[in-house]
Amino acid sequence: MGTQDTYNYKVVRQFAIMAVIWAIVGMLVGVWIAAELAWPQLNMDIPYLTFSRLRPLHTNAVIFAFGGSALFATSYYVVQRTCHTRLFLPKLASFTFWGWQLVIVLAALSYPFGITQSREYAELEWPIDLLITVVWVAYAIVFFGTIAKRKVKHIYVANWFFGAYIITIAMLHIFNNLAVPVTLTKSYSLFAGVQDAMTQWWYGHNAVGFFLTAAFLGMMYYFIPKQAQRPVYSYRLSVVHFWALIFTYIWAGPHHLHYTALPDWTQSLGMLLSLILLAPSWGGMINGIMTLSGAWHKLRDDPILKFLIVSVSFYGMSTFEGPMMAIKTVNALSHYTDWTVGHVHSGALGWVAMVSIGSLYYLIPRLFNREIYSVGLINVHFWLATIGTVLYITSMWISGIMQGLMWRAVNADGTLTYSFVESVQAMHPYYAIRTLGGAVFLTGMLVMAYNIFRTVKGAKPVDAPVLAPAH
Ligand code: HEM
Ligand code: HEM
Repeated sequence: MGTQDTYNYKVVRQFAIMAVIWAIVGMLVGVWIAAELAWPQLNMDIPYLTFSRLRPLHTNAVIFAFGGSALFATSYYVVQRTCHTRLFLPKLASFTFWGWQLVIVLAALSYPFGITQSREYAELEWPIDLLITVVWVAYAIVFFGTIAKRKVKHIYVANWFFGAYIITIAMLHIFNNLAVPVTLTKSYSLFAGVQDAMTQWWYGHNAVGFFLTAAFLGMMYYFIPKQAQRPVYSYRLSVVHFWALIFTYIWAGPHHLHYTALPDWTQSLGMLLSLILLAPSWGGMINGIMTLSGAWHKLRDDPILKFLIVSVSFYGMSTFEGPMMAIKTVNALSHYTDWTVGHVHSGALGWVAMVSIGSLYYLIPRLFNREIYSVGLINVHFWLATIGTVLYITSMWISGIMQGLMWRAVNADGTLTYSFVESVQAMHPYYAIRTLGGAVFLTGMLVMAYNIFRTVKGAKPVDAPVLAPAH
């Protein structure tokens, strides 16, 4: 068989394996910083290990290294399979792999050394930002080039979500990082004051909306129907879901800036659009879950499906919680507290990580033409991931709401009931529980790595033949 007759799985394999490795690295740093918050002496007075330097290492490693690699792998796989054609410009695709790994390594070096723009989720300095831009443009060329040379007329809905994420992330990345370089490792943002804050949270929120949500919905729309062997519940709903979601997300950024110098009307608009966002989010969740209708029994003994369906349930939960937290009076309690961190991880662990894990378990045996080594171990992983997530988010809810209530409690004479340090003391047990939850989740990832290692060992990688277009 010539290469033109097969799908290009090499780059998919590379990204899929790196996704598992980066998940372990990023979560290990997560567990470490969680432990530092409970037992601060763990930074051992070494500047490279302080919480402030490792925190961006964690967020970037899990979002961009793990999440990004999982998205590259799945989008390259899905776009080929659903377009019935080989990837456009395979050498450029290979460049995106090596380029993205280089970005990750440079990030891992710069944060411990304290090199940062101090923009959350966009901490990287300008030379690395330029490299990201080049890699991302190459990604867009490969992805949309493949769509352009598709052998079927129809563009499957998963590709709409992947396409929107690729375009929007390019726009967000470029505008939020506009800066004047002064040295190789230092630059000043083009924005100042409240415009700076607004640009940053327009970026930050849509990094959530398009990187952590839209793209993973692309995964959901391909891998749930595949694993359940059922068509998407409603194709019409998926189209409404797509347009409503991408229209609404882009306005919601100001809910990160309630009660700040941002004009009041902007805050209220952000709150309103966040409330509206509940509808498309739940439309998507219902579409994902209802795809199982008539096949519910499969959940009983298919742990991959369990990962996928539980992830969509966490998606539903965090997209209910988010709009609630966007209400100004609720945000007055939740902002600056661990409630936000709990919300983040119900999305990040429950949704993003679980949907990726399920998709990777589907993919890897196919990419290596092997049966999975152990279905039992996938089941073990499923329970470790679920218990870890629940421990993490419940401890943060308790700690967060307690913090908020302690900070606002006042005595009859108007003085504060609690000093700040009393609230820190009260949080300690919950920080220990969160660390435990993270460690349990991480253990699940190690089980996955072992299972995949045993699956892949000695296997001969394959590229599947290109399917003839359906009529
Ligand atoms: C073993 C699993 C994990 C552990 C133990 C963990 C732990 C932590 C800790 C301790 C923080 C700092 C919280 C603070 O500043 O108070 C944090 C922040 C964060 N983590 Fe994780 N994490 C894990 C997995 C993940 C994953 C898989 C993702 C994304 C896909 C993620 C995304 C984030 C984000 C976005 C923040 C910043 C939250 C904010 O600013 O409110 N984490 N994590
Ligand atoms: C309808 C959907 C959602 C809405 C309206 C929403 C709303 C919110 C609100 C109001 C905050 C707190 C802002 C603050 O007080 O600082 C927040 C924080 C956050 N949310 Fe969501 N959320 C949604 C879904 C999600 C999902 C699915 C994820 C993850 C996959 C996620 C990730 C985050 C992150 C990372 C932050 C912390 C940002 C930071 O301060 O660093 N959100 N969200």
